[in-house]
Amino acid sequence: MRVLGIETSCDETGVALYDSDLGLLADAVHSQVALHAGYGGVVPELASRDHVRRLIPLIRNIIDKGAERVPGLALGNLDAVAYTAGPGLAGALMVGAGFGETLAWSLGLPAMPVHHMEGHLLAPLLGAEEDIPFPFVALLVSGGHTQLVEVAAIGEYRLLGESLDDAAGEAFDKTAKLLDLGYPGGPALAKAAEDGDPTRFRFPRPMTDRPGLDFSFSGLKTFTLNTVNAHQPLTGQDRADIARAFEDAVVDTLYIKCRRALESTGCDTLLMAGGVSANRRLRRTLDERLNATVIYPRPDLCTDNGAMIAFAGCQRLLAGQRSESIISVRPRWPMTELPGLGN
Ligand code: KG4
Ligand code: ZN
Repeated sequence: MRVLGIETSCDETGVALYDSDLGLLADAVHSQVALHAGYGGVVPELASRDHVRRLIPLIRNIIDKGAERVPGLALGNLDAVAYTAGPGLAGALMVGAGFGETLAWSLGLPAMPVHHMEGHLLAPLLGAEEDIPFPFVALLVSGGHTQLVEVAAIGEYRLLGESLDDAAGEAFDKTAKLLDLGYPGGPALAKAAEDGDPTRFRFPRPMTDRPGLDFSFSGLKTFTLNTVNAHQPLTGQDRADIARAFEDAVVDTLYIKCRRALESTGCDTLLMAGGVSANRRLRRTLDERLNATVIYPRPDLCTDNGAMIAFAGCQRLLAGQRSESIISVRPRWPMTELPGLGN
């Protein structure tokens, strides 16, 4: 089955062609970083308008790339269109959903609405050399979510814990803003932290001194703000040291909760996905300190992309699922409400 995937939930326009026999045929992402940089964060209306502008040229581009691999490949010989239906920004989601449903209808193909976080969760399976054994624990860490989920099968998700306030990526972004490190914050803060002295400051590891698998990152942001205020004016080294202390605190907190989640479920595999899973210190820490197999997507599939949406949609279509052709998106959408595949 050959599926076109469309991702427009936030500030990346992602499209991809996934073939269940041949794998990922082509993908392309247009990042809106430059568009929003001057505002220090995503402006929803600008995001929606840019998705409108980018979708058609990007899809033309991947059809051409795909045809280099599969001669004769064209829109007319696709089998389905998958698009992100939520969670995300309502207007941005509507662009992808409206486009996806309309394209599918005009080609006489099924359309499959996809849950953005299921897309992230399944991204490590895309191109994996070996099957990933169920059940496993998934750590989903993005700009909008921080969740620990027990995955019994595709579509069978049990929420073990989640952030009660800011998501990990959001905390990275807000802290980077406090430190004037630029936008997008996560990669900028991680880069600054490379030159930081890990012994100068010690930030708290929120909610690790009590049982449970929930997270809270907003206090860490306040702690950073107080540290910033106490060291005015900040030197470049101060910024690097604070960035390092912040990153260490987030990474350590995530590690502690992952260890607990593995212990409480008896699973021996941890899968990590979402934008923050690109963080090198987090990868290294989980690899070295967890007594488990740790799996994560290749770096370009950590942040938002169309490939994960094409792949996730394809799994549901292969299982025989079909959706009614109604253009509807869910800006808030608990992943535990998804149906299983029934096998
Ligand atoms: O999954 P994603 O692309 O979009 C959402 O679904 O939210 O995640 C974006 C988030 C942003 O908060 C970004 O700062 C963070 O992932 N991020 C990182 C890194 N790369 C991206 N955070 C820490 N370290 C990184 N290397
Ligand atoms: Zn995402």
